[in-house]
Amino acid sequence: MAKQLLPWTYVLLSLTAAEQPSAPKPVAAPMRPLPWGQLNFLQTTDTHGWHAGHLQESQYSADWGDYISFAERMHQKADEIGADLLLVDTGDRVEGNGLYDASKPKGRYDYDIFKEQDIDIICTGNHELYQADAAAREYTQTVPNFKGKYLASNLDYIKPDTGERIPMAQRFRKFTTKNQGIRVLAFGFLFDFTGNANNTIVQPVGKTIEEKWFQDAIREDVDLFIVIGHVTLHGPEYKAIFKAIRSQKWDTPIQFFGGHSHIRDFAKYDSKAYGFQSGRYMETVGWMSIDGIKSKGKKGDLKELELRSDMSFQRRYIDNNLFGYRYHTGLNESTFPTGHGQNVSASIHKARKALNLDYFYGCAPKDLWMSRAPYPSDNSLYSWLEKEVLADVATNPKRKDKPRMVIFNTGGMRFDIFKGTFTRDSTYIVSPFVSTLKYIKDVPFKAASQMLPLLNNGGPIFESTELQPWQLAPPEQLAIHYDIIAPQLSIQDSFISGAAQAPLLSSSPDLVPGYTTKDDAGDDGDDTLHAPISFYKIPNCIQATASMAEKSDPETVDLVFIDFIQPWVLTALQFTGQTYNNSHVENYRPEIFTDLLAGWIKEHWRGDCRS
Ligand SMILES: *[C@@H]1O[C@H](CO)[C@@H](O)[C@H](O)[C@H]1NC(C)=O
Ligand SMILES: *[C@@H]1O[C@H](CO)[C@@H](O)[C@H](O)[C@H]1NC(C)=O
Ligand SMILES: *[C@@H]1O[C@H](CO)[C@@H](O)[C@H](O)[C@H]1NC(C)=O
Ligand SMILES: *[C@@H]1O[C@H](CO)[C@@H](O)[C@H](O)[C@H]1NC(C)=O
Repeated sequence: MAKQLLPWTYVLLSLTAAEQPSAPKPVAAPMRPLPWGQLNFLQTTDTHGWHAGHLQESQYSADWGDYISFAERMHQKADEIGADLLLVDTGDRVEGNGLYDASKPKGRYDYDIFKEQDIDIICTGNHELYQADAAAREYTQTVPNFKGKYLASNLDYIKPDTGERIPMAQRFRKFTTKNQGIRVLAFGFLFDFTGNANNTIVQPVGKTIEEKWFQDAIREDVDLFIVIGHVTLHGPEYKAIFKAIRSQKWDTPIQFFGGHSHIRDFAKYDSKAYGFQSGRYMETVGWMSIDGIKSKGKKGDLKELELRSDMSFQRRYIDNNLFGYRYHTGLNESTFPTGHGQNVSASIHKARKALNLDYFYGCAPKDLWMSRAPYPSDNSLYSWLEKEVLADVATNPKRKDKPRMVIFNTGGMRFDIFKGTFTRDSTYIVSPFVSTLKYIKDVPFKAASQMLPLLNNGGPIFESTELQPWQLAPPEQLAIHYDIIAPQLSIQDSFISGAAQAPLLSSSPDLVPGYTTKDDAGDDGDDTLHAPISFYKIPNCIQATASMAEKSDPETVDLVFIDFIQPWVLTALQFTGQTYNNSHVENYRPEIFTDLLAGWIKEHWRGDCRS
């Protein structure tokens, strides 16, 4: 039997600062222990460069070096009890934090920091592939850094010198676990992504599973299939892979690891097939344990655990902070860190200094939330953009008196802004992309004014294309798309008719707000008890206008938009009867949006809130 879960216990450990000197101290909280099994996993996903941890949020303040210490301590424990521990990362390691985005070339320090973790199975996310240079670095740096561990089941790379198309990495991996002798066959997938630069080819999952190598692989005699992927647990891709494996192996256990939608999630496909996903941004480190695997390899003794004859799959979402890491390892401030972990924390600190990430831009006057505040409202990041920023930064000296509409997709923003210090790092955290403003001049007002409703309500015009308008919203909103999270209604609910109101749980005054996850296994997955946080549905796009006449509508406007949404805008324009194509799209401003935003903040958020 795996160890029974203990009831909530308050744990009093001595608390000290995390490894990044400016990180806030972790806060003591009621904890749930980690259930150990025969085979255990730690998962990271969608870290998006947050390898220094969260320097403004104590519950996520551990860094990549602390995670290395944690994994090393857990490996020691696994060896002591004769269990196995594997580490998994499911992609989107890049874009979203100054540690990756602020250097030239991007990731100059981050790849070397990341590679220090000993990951057993790793794959690619869509963010590694948007920019050709990032995809090339994936091939020349990350794949060799994780040689033999990096899997690319449906991803090819085009070599720049020869134009030759080759697998980004090996398609699958077969291995036997160290202590339990479990024979594993692992795959590494990416969802059916189409927005990649032209130096990679993502093959649709449905096609890949028909290929001979895959069909051969799923016929292999193994004790367990592990499918990792930058894939949502409830999307069509994992359903297809599950079906394909089950068509050959009706009884072999399958463990899926997902990513992309930035949520904590757990899915049951059948009694021996489960999926797990560990959130985003180094907020969450996932723990998964499996018991009852019938292994035909050499079976080690499990000293503290007894093998279950029936299978069990248990999960835990670990808040990434030192309080929890020490609690889960039973170690303290002096016994927890390893020399290797401390060295990596020191490298992160050095890199942050070299990149000047603490450089002060201004003081945010209040918290501005992506989905924790309704849209529109005073604390909505998007209301702030719409009312204060967009029209101001979308100004072209040659066209400044032309009436214009400025459209921005909500997914172009990646994180909340906290009241107080706003730094160079904050800029990349909020707006990591290298997007610029484009425009089409003199668009009939009638057509332009239909853009926002079409992009937000979708409908038949997009149905026959790969351009799903919900792809324009932040990935967290996918949880609503797949009915995993029922959003709270926002004040302006015109675009969310039909959405169910989530009950507001009564919150305990002592608890820090954070994840209160409900998944296919219930509501006891989080390792830390939190007060719940609101989650509102937001539109796909927002819009600001400028230089419009007071009384009458103009004949024509400049239709300004962030470059990412160009294909959607052109499709929507065609629907209104316009014949615009790519050749009509011109640059509106030369700067990337991130720099425009930083400029606006420097100018408008003056003052000094540094303590
Ligand atoms: C990819 O696009 C770039 C620029 O748009 C072009 O120069 C290059 O030849 C293309 N590469 C491939 C492999 O098609
Ligand atoms: C940490 O644990 C070790 C071994 O149990 C003990 O000797 C030491 O005093 C503890 N240190 C702190 C700071 O509690
Ligand atoms: C940590 O870094 C120091 C100095 O670079 C090095 O001598 C030492 O071997 C490293 N320790 C570990 C455990 O990596
Ligand atoms: C774009 O539209 C113009 C007419 O406005 C036309 O001449 C041109 O061929 C079109 N380009 C494409 C790629 O369809």
